[in-house]
This record gives sequence, C-alpha cells and structure tokens, in this order.
Amino acid sequence: LRRSYSQHQSQPARPSFGIAFDIDGVILRGHSPIGGSPQALRRLYNDDGTLKIPYLFLTNGGGVPESARAIELSGLLGVKISALQVLQGHSPFKQLLKRFENYPIVAVGKGEPSQVMSEYGFKKVLSIDEYASYFDDIDPLSSYKDWKVKQAYKTDEYSKKSQPIYDVHSDRVKGAFVVSDPVDWGRDIQVLCDILGFGGLPAKGRGHQPALFFASDDLEYQAAFPAERLGMGAFRIALESVFNRTHDNPLEYTSFGKPNPFVFKNAEATLKQILSNVHHNQHTINEVKANSFSKIYMIGDNPSVDIKGAAEAGHPWFSILTRTGVFKGQDNHPEYPANLVVDTVEEAVDYILRKES
Ligand code: G3P
Ligand code: MG
Repeated sequence: LRRSYSQHQSQPARPSFGIAFDIDGVILRGHSPIGGSPQALRRLYNDDGTLKIPYLFLTNGGGVPESARAIELSGLLGVKISALQVLQGHSPFKQLLKRFENYPIVAVGKGEPSQVMSEYGFKKVLSIDEYASYFDDIDPLSSYKDWKVKQAYKTDEYSKKSQPIYDVHSDRVKGAFVVSDPVDWGRDIQVLCDILGFGGLPAKGRGHQPALFFASDDLEYQAAFPAERLGMGAFRIALESVFNRTHDNPLEYTSFGKPNPFVFKNAEATLKQILSNVHHNQHTINEVKANSFSKIYMIGDNPSVDIKGAAEAGHPWFSILTRTGVFKGQDNHPEYPANLVVDTVEEAVDYILRKES
C-alpha cells in the first residue's frame, strides 16, 4: 500500500482531458452510426473493455430515460456505455423536482416522455397522449390519423383498467414539459393551448399560465434524411405563434439544452465524476477536481448549438465541428467558428489522441 501510495505521489500530474460527443449528426444519423463512430469510441477504452478516457454524450435529443439510452447506444456502437455518460436535453428537468414533485404535470414528445419524468421522481405525470385520451373530441382530426387507431386500443385498455394519476377534469396542470420532439404537432399545439391558456383545461377560472419547459431549442437537426429536419425549436415557434395569436398574454416558457452555458458546466461536473471511475491516479483526480480539466473537447455538427455553446462556456472547452450533420461547409462556420473543423468524428478523436499523447 505504502509503495503504491509513494508511486502515485511521484507521478507527474498527467494533462487531463475529457470529451463530449453530440449524437445526431456526429455519432448517428437516425439509428445508423456515422463517421466511423464505433471505431472512434473503441479507442477510448482499454483492451479489457474498461474506460480509458473520460467521455460522455451531450445531446439535445431524448425521449427515453438515460439508462435506456445508454443500453441502446451500447448496442448500436459496440462499446459499454453507462447511464452517467448520457446527458440528454431533458436531463436538467431533474433539477425541477422540488418544485413539481407532487403536482400534476404533462410530458410531451416521442418515446416515453412520462416514464422519463417518473424516473426523475415526478409523482403525478401524464403523457399528453394519455391526458388527451380523457377528453372526448379534444382533437377533431383524430379520426383521420390512421396511426392513432393502433394506439386507441392501448389507451382504451389502460383507461378502462386504471384511473389517471390525477383528476384531469378538476386538477389544473402545474407544468408542461416538452421532453422530446413532439410527434403530433397539430394535436399537441391544440392541447397545450388548452392546458396553458386562460379558461382552458380544466375550465376553472383564470390564473397564471402553468409553467412550460422545453428540453432544447434546436430549430433544425440532422436525422437520417439528407436535409436537416425541424426540431424542438421549430415546434416552440409554432406553439408560441399560435398561442400569442389566440391569447392576450404572450406565452412564457424556459428552454434548456445546448447552447446554454449551464449545460456545459453540468457536463464538466459529470466528466469529473466519470474521471473518478477511470483514473487510478489519485493525484490526477484531485488535481482535476480542485481545478479543472486541461481541456474538454466538444465534438458537434451544429454551429449555432454545439460550437456556440462551447465557445460561450469558455475554458476548458475546445470545439471541433464535423461535416457529417447540420454543417456541410468547406471552411469554418463564419458566425460560430469552431476551434477545429474535421470531416468525421473519427478524425476528431484521432486529432485529440495525437494531441494528448
Ligand atoms: O432531436 C435531437 C436533436 O434536436 C439534436 O440532437 O445529438 O444533435 O444534440 P443532438
Ligand atoms: Mg447534432
């Protein structure tokens, strides 16, 4: 014990760095790995499969709990990824638990938005699908939506078996959380206007607008289709426009996700936790905990989200822009230039490992 202690003491503090990977447009397009991402990630592990370099995913996407996303990513990318390594757009919603824990809330978006919120500890969550199912004719277009027919069985079954977690006809929703990209924009805009508007649901007099949170504000993002697709920021604009045309008071809301600097602060704190699991050199761990990493690389595809965010976060962030997603230019981005532009994530990791060796 004594010998290993003195060994650690005598080792010079290795320059310590971490990496944050954007997912859509860097690691994946849809569900397919891109830019040599599996090979790139493999280089961050030891031969025995343990983590060598502290890294995490910093995505504005989401819709499933972090633990489930970690399992999904591990399968797609062929490396062992822990829940701690997955920071999604909605991950900061956890910090709102105290305020909303025991109050009725609604969760919106693809995947399992209510399960995400329940796992964070919120006790009275309904997905907007379930919420809407308790109001006959709330969506006059529902009979034209073929894909909803399958869902109707499900909804019918569980509404027959169980009661909603709160009384949708008398309890006012205290918060609406847009967890992931909404699936049925028309219905969701309608029902959110009902919930958030005065004289809306339930019809119970006036009051302050219930709180509204968005997990991110991406206008566009790179999915499987060649051209960018509309993201949560586009949905926010649509909802806000309609709400403001139909109400006297403008819509109040808060958006999370990159490029907010606190997201990068949180990622730095999480990387420190991951570092403790990676490094056996206590001296390096203490050094990083007391000060910081010498560098944290943000590898992203979206200049106005990933690169802007890293630039605003400042030291120790260093931004690397890939050409596999939203950004497709030859040179650097004029408005939000990255510290480095590369073609793929594989090239980015190669640069980092050469630089840090
Ligand atoms: O819906 C996902 C998208 O808005 C962004 O994901 O991984 O590029 O931050 P990402
Ligand atoms: Mg992206």
